[in-house]
Amino acid sequence: MNLTLKVWRQSSPNATGRIETYEARDIPSEASFLEMLDIVNTGIIEAGNDPIHFDHDCREGICGSCSLAINGVPHSKESGITTCQVHMRKFREGDTIWIEPFRARAFPVIKDLMVDRSAFDRIIAAGGYIDVRTGSAPEANAIAIGKEDADDAFDAATCIGCGACVAACKNASAMLFVGAKASHLNTLPQGHAEKDRRVLAMVRQMDTEGFGNCTNQYECEAVCPKEISADVIAKLNRDYAAASVREVVE
Ligand code: FES
Repeated sequence: MNLTLKVWRQSSPNATGRIETYEARDIPSEASFLEMLDIVNTGIIEAGNDPIHFDHDCREGICGSCSLAINGVPHSKESGITTCQVHMRKFREGDTIWIEPFRARAFPVIKDLMVDRSAFDRIIAAGGYIDVRTGSAPEANAIAIGKEDADDAFDAATCIGCGACVAACKNASAMLFVGAKASHLNTLPQGHAEKDRRVLAMVRQMDTEGFGNCTNQYECEAVCPKEISADVIAKLNRDYAAASVREVVE
């Protein structure tokens, strides 16, 4: 396949970025999107130039590192997959592909297509954990958990923290991410004791980091590679409201 790439290039966080054009020649249709970038980068390096910088790690949809917007959509218009799971057979010969970093004030560009998502780490550090000694693994059925709760917790736990929800939202809201992480722990009995403290701390840290507010656009749900439901946002709003009232009363 032969394609034209329009790629965001930015040498450092404070440098002025620009779109540059590259010709991607002889790309196998079975190559992944990131393998296509590898091939293009090989040519750039052989010509003595600076390769296109992009994040990746697992290349199998697990780590959430691959933060690209393809033709304006985080992880591409294919639903339920990450950038690294996009294959070139989804494009047509001669296509022009626009490739940009995830855009949000809370995700500053580091270089080219790499963004700093450490804001998510700080939200998790604020409350996305269970603060008790768990000891060795207990017998699996020692704590009975209803099927519905177990399913909800598991669905929320599939969030890989990629940030596509933020990049797709016109408000750059992180509510789907925070809702998923809080819901995962709050739904399980082990997480109940710290539920109020967790929700208040994570939402406040989210605000401190500069993410926007949720206005129910559902763009986050549409681009989430793990197809996490916006129901976690409603649950987070209810939990936050209840925790705020109890905080004032107590
Ligand atoms: S590189 Fe790990 S999810 Fe894409």
